[in-house]
Amino acid sequence: MATNRTFTMIKPDAFGAGNSGAILKMIEDAGFKVVAMKATKLTPELAGKFYEVHKERPFYADLCAYMSSGPIFAAILEKDNAVEDFRKLIGATNPADAAEGTIRKIFAKSIEANAVHGSDSDENATIEGNFFFNQAERVL
Ligand code: PPS
Repeated sequence: MATNRTFTMIKPDAFGAGNSGAILKMIEDAGFKVVAMKATKLTPELAGKFYEVHKERPFYADLCAYMSSGPIFAAILEKDNAVEDFRKLIGATNPADAAEGTIRKIFAKSIEANAVHGSDSDENATIEGNFFFNQAERVL
């Protein structure tokens, strides 16, 4: 994956509340192109694998249970400076700290049910995109 791509998930809270369309509109209006997308539901095992990097953190079990509690959208997004610009668009992890106008400020319910995921580096964007999508499932 090129370094102008990032990976996102619309989490179970936002999917379940019917906010996926509004969130996608904000993402597209900010200049991101969707180059892969699917609705799916993680098993607890898959969530555990995806978030393995956080396995020593106190919230790991809760996070994995939460992320496998309902359907999500997974997507790869393309834009110049994608990782950094997308993190700005979604706002701080805890919606209480998120800037006005960010996706998490508008849609997140809590630090756990915080509407969207965004990769934190180009390297992780590639790893995370490859976790969900094979070559035939994305725009090359
Ligand atoms: S980040 O994005 O990696 O800088 O954020 P971080 O604070 O390190 O959190 C990593 C992911 O864990 C989620 N998280 C939590 N889940 C449940 N309970 C608590 N207290 C909590 N704190 C953080 C956070 O939403 C991040 O998930 P992703 O999917 O990466 O956004």
